[in-house]
Amino acid sequence: MIFGHLLKTLLPIIFAARAASSLPTWPQKTNTSLINPVIIHQFEPVAWLENLYVRPNGQLLINSQSAPELYLIDPTHPEKKVLIHEFPNTNPGLSGLGGIIETSPDTYAIVLGDLNHTTVSGFKGTFSVWTINLENYPYEAPAVKKVASHPDWTFLNGLTRLEDPTVILGCDSFDGTVYRIDTITGDVSVTIRPDNTTIPPNGQQFFIGIDGIRVFKPRHSKTTFLYYNNYVGQGYYRVPIDAYTGNSIGPVEVLATNLGLGLDDLEIDAYGASWISAAHANRIVRVGPENAVNTVAESPDVRFITAVRQGRTCYDNSRFYFATGQGKVGYIDGSAWL
Ligand SMILES: *[C@@H]1O[C@H](CO)[C@@H](O)[C@H](O)[C@H]1NC(C)=O
Ligand SMILES: *[C@@H]1O[C@H](CO)[C@@H](O)[C@H](O)[C@H]1NC(C)=O
Ligand SMILES: *[C@@H]1O[C@H](CO)[C@@H](O)[C@H](O)[C@H]1NC(C)=O
Repeated sequence: MIFGHLLKTLLPIIFAARAASSLPTWPQKTNTSLINPVIIHQFEPVAWLENLYVRPNGQLLINSQSAPELYLIDPTHPEKKVLIHEFPNTNPGLSGLGGIIETSPDTYAIVLGDLNHTTVSGFKGTFSVWTINLENYPYEAPAVKKVASHPDWTFLNGLTRLEDPTVILGCDSFDGTVYRIDTITGDVSVTIRPDNTTIPPNGQQFFIGIDGIRVFKPRHSKTTFLYYNNYVGQGYYRVPIDAYTGNSIGPVEVLATNLGLGLDDLEIDAYGASWISAAHANRIVRVGPENAVNTVAESPDVRFITAVRQGRTCYDNSRFYFATGQGKVGYIDGSAWL
């Protein structure tokens, strides 16, 4: 319903040619079979699940955008979900949660803000970053705090952390700016200014550019990079940054193009491969460390997939968990690629 127009307008783009794969090199694998998603929970009534994060104990935190609610699902008993916290529902129907990142063990920064779900556009000035401490949950209620806001934020979306994990980066999908946000002091400053890899492309009905962001230092590299995708632009990029300040220190590199419409959040595994959700292409794309591109899952079960996160326990670290705009939580088993 929400994205009907977008699909009609942009469907042809979804089928645009994929980027050519480079020759496989270790640890690049060549198994091109699609992995079947396994659904472990269906939200009823259906909610737009915008993001998820894996706690150190393996439980999943799920951000709803339909209402500003944070849920917990334990993959060992996935039929049950627990509402951990409801953030201030300032404008019911508009207020919801966005990005989530761990800033210290079992403490998370979360984006709260108002979105028009039909136009998928944010309301300037409504966005803020909160922290929630779950160290003693459920024995104690979580400690929740509003830590930062900025009058220019129009659609604050993806979050990632810097060398000091209490200092994070957040991107504005509307205007293509990346901000450094100190979750202790509340200081906010611009680290990366918009360019045509971070802004939404012209002439599209929807205005969503940079979306998923991740700070990562590849093996054997002395340089730390900010990896990011562009939701409507369908490209995947990285820019070298100062690991402490997040400021850009070199030119942007194009890693892949035409990955599918709706590039949302992403995970980078220990081998340096990126696992990216393509919400409107209904797929998970893997971009290998040498930039080889493979669709690893494509299914109605991952329709409107918003985020992918790797399992953190020894029992499930080959799983890539996901959440979708259709209220589904599930995983794909990535063993063939690890
Ligand atoms: C390829 O991957 C699929 C899906 O994970 C798996 O079922 C299959 O066994 C793999 N084939 C090989 C040859 O590794
Ligand atoms: C959301 O956008 C639609 C389409 O422009 C509009 O009809 C609707 O009134 C908007 N909703 C709000 C709450 O602004
Ligand atoms: C982005 O901008 C640069 C210079 O500003 C230009 O050379 C390049 O072609 C642009 N790329 C796209 C995809 O528009």
